[in-house]
Amino acid sequence: MDYKINFQYLCCVLLFGFLDSILAEKNCNPVRTEFHNRKIGPPDLVPNFAIHDNEIKICFDPLRDPTRLSCCSKASEQQYVIAAKKYLKDSVRSKTAFLKKSILDHILQFEERLSSLILLSENKTSVTLEDLYKIPKSEYSQTVSEFFSQIRLFMKQKQVSLYASVATFYDNIFPSVLKYNLHSGKVLTLTPEQTSCLRRTRQDIVPVPFGKTQYNISHSLQHTLSNVKSYIEVLSLVVEAINLTDNASVTEKCVHQVTQLQFCSRCQNETTVLPCKGLCLNTMRRCLAQFSILHQDWKKLMMSVVRLDGGQSDKYNVEAILQQLSHDIDMSIKHAVRNIAVTYNVAKGLCHISAADTQIPIRTASSELGTQLKHNRNRRTMGGDLNDQVLQVKEQLLISMNIFSTLSEDICEQKLFYDQDPDSNTCWNGTLVGRFTGNIEHLKAFTTSEMDVDPQLITMRDKLSLTRNTLDTEHQEYSMMSDSSIFKYGSGDGGINDGGGIVLETDDEDLNGSGSGSGDGSGQTPSPIDVTLAPTKSFNKPPNRNQRPENSASSVSVSMVMAILTVITTLIL
Ligand SMILES: *[C@@H]1O[C@H](CO)[C@@H](O)[C@H](O)[C@H]1NC(C)=O
Ligand SMILES: *[C@@H]1O[C@H](CO)[C@@H](O)[C@H](O)[C@H]1NC(C)=O
Ligand SMILES: *[C@@H]1O[C@H](CO)[C@@H](O)[C@H](O)[C@H]1NC(C)=O
Ligand SMILES: *[C@@H]1O[C@H](CO)[C@@H](O)[C@H](O)[C@H]1NC(C)=O
Ligand SMILES: *[C@@H]1O[C@H](CO)[C@@H](O)[C@H](O)[C@H]1NC(C)=O
Ligand SMILES: *[C@@H]1O[C@H](CO)[C@@H](O)[C@H](O)[C@H]1NC(C)=O
Ligand SMILES: *[C@@H]1O[C@H](CO)[C@@H](O)[C@H](O)[C@H]1NC(C)=O
Repeated sequence: MDYKINFQYLCCVLLFGFLDSILAEKNCNPVRTEFHNRKIGPPDLVPNFAIHDNEIKICFDPLRDPTRLSCCSKASEQQYVIAAKKYLKDSVRSKTAFLKKSILDHILQFEERLSSLILLSENKTSVTLEDLYKIPKSEYSQTVSEFFSQIRLFMKQKQVSLYASVATFYDNIFPSVLKYNLHSGKVLTLTPEQTSCLRRTRQDIVPVPFGKTQYNISHSLQHTLSNVKSYIEVLSLVVEAINLTDNASVTEKCVHQVTQLQFCSRCQNETTVLPCKGLCLNTMRRCLAQFSILHQDWKKLMMSVVRLDGGQSDKYNVEAILQQLSHDIDMSIKHAVRNIAVTYNVAKGLCHISAADTQIPIRTASSELGTQLKHNRNRRTMGGDLNDQVLQVKEQLLISMNIFSTLSEDICEQKLFYDQDPDSNTCWNGTLVGRFTGNIEHLKAFTTSEMDVDPQLITMRDKLSLTRNTLDTEHQEYSMMSDSSIFKYGSGDGGINDGGGIVLETDDEDLNGSGSGSGDGSGQTPSPIDVTLAPTKSFNKPPNRNQRPENSASSVSVSMVMAILTVITTLIL
């Protein structure tokens, strides 16, 4: 017995002495250095020399291979697992980050632009009421600020009806318009009862005091701002979906596979070898299969979003409509003043106003409209072109249409990180540096029951699908509404009235920037601005030189081009 033990002892001493001399040269310095540089963990977790750690769990089986030496310890392997999890998340995020940032920036700029336009419009409306219609600030300021608050509220929640808000605005401003704009040049004195009576009965007075423009205002505001709102809402949902996939949970098994793909080569002192593409595809497809459940609904939603006009169609352009708003209000009050004698007669009867209620005003009406309001009709001068931004974001969305079905391919096709040659035998195949011989699995081969799907992803898929259905229904309703005769706006209205044609066609048209719509004379009236401006006779004021913005704008640019050409010609000669 003693003899046997001694023999084993001797044997072991000899063996370990032999190994020791080999180990002296076999340091793990490259692995340590990388561990430190890539901040995988504290470098002293990496053994100085190759060792055999019985508790290695992921990179190889230390019990089946009891003599195997490696540059991994249990502790360093655990750090690799953490790094692998981070790598996986970062890889997914890097595929969606650009889209997310573009959309978030776009939403922010869109909203800022709208709120500055609303503010400007509020200001111009106040100036109009005060300067052109001599209504004192104390009488209009609440009415105006309520009206514009309603518009802001509408953009935030659904419950506001802009038809009602516009009507309320006219109800409230009606007594003041009457008071200060009688042709007699006298100011009407009204009791609080008469004032509230006038507000109450304004909508019953025939002929309608403010004419038809007010209906145009309600309709175009409601229509355009609804479009803007659903556009922004969908974009927010897209961001929400990306946030979710950024944060989706992954299984432990998957993280272990990514550890094998990315880091187990380190155990063999290999720090520069690239993983084989086949290994990457198999690992990523298995790990990221859960995202593919979003693919169908995501893709359909993208196609619906691209069809939204986002308040950028020619007739319902949100910037033009907001810039036009104070002008339209001006037109409607002009209409009221023009017919004020008739209106006043009806109102007198309805609200018991007697002729004795009038006073001599401080200044005479009508003739003193010295203050010419300049309505800024050029949306390009406001800085930042919303329409271009919308087109760019739509383009981004189209590009990202297949983002959730091609994640693995996109990750594994990075030449810098994965050996792309399928026959390479100098890549990391998961076990050693050599050819990858496994079968490459296809995404379609996974059934939902085989995947570990984060339940939040299923919720999100249903939300995407629901939103898309809602959008498509709204789209159909708009098409039907436009076809009916309630609002005869013609049909050259890029996007909305195109009656659900092929999606990409609509988009191409948008991207071409022609915005020409599909005919019937809309080419001659490219914006709602012209429509309202053209036939209106000016009321009690000299013809407005600013009333033909397109002509003056184009003549300016033509003359500028001519001037530049002249200069260039002169220089050449
Ligand atoms: C690891 O690689 C370095 C540099 O290539 C080498 O000096 C060292 O001996 C290697 N160690 C092992 C354990 O193979
Ligand atoms: C409108 O804006 C001008 C210039 O920004 C300012 O001077 C004026 O007080 C504003 N008017 C109202 C009613 O807000
Ligand atoms: C209302 O809008 C339509 C179409 O935009 C236009 O033809 C009509 O002249 C407008 N009416 C008024 C009173 O502005
Ligand atoms: C998504 O995450 C970003 C931060 O990355 C945050 O600013 C944004 O509000 C989030 N949006 C949604 C809809 O969750
Ligand atoms: C992801 O989740 C973490 C915490 O669970 C949170 O702090 C972070 O904001 C989320 N990121 C996104 C983009 O939603
Ligand atoms: C990696 O290469 C080794 C040796 O050629 C082979 O035995 C092993 O099956 C390969 N592993 C894979 C996943 O291809
Ligand atoms: C877009 O413009 C190009 C050239 O300007 C033209 O060939 C193409 O047919 C246009 N596409 C659409 C959808 O109008």
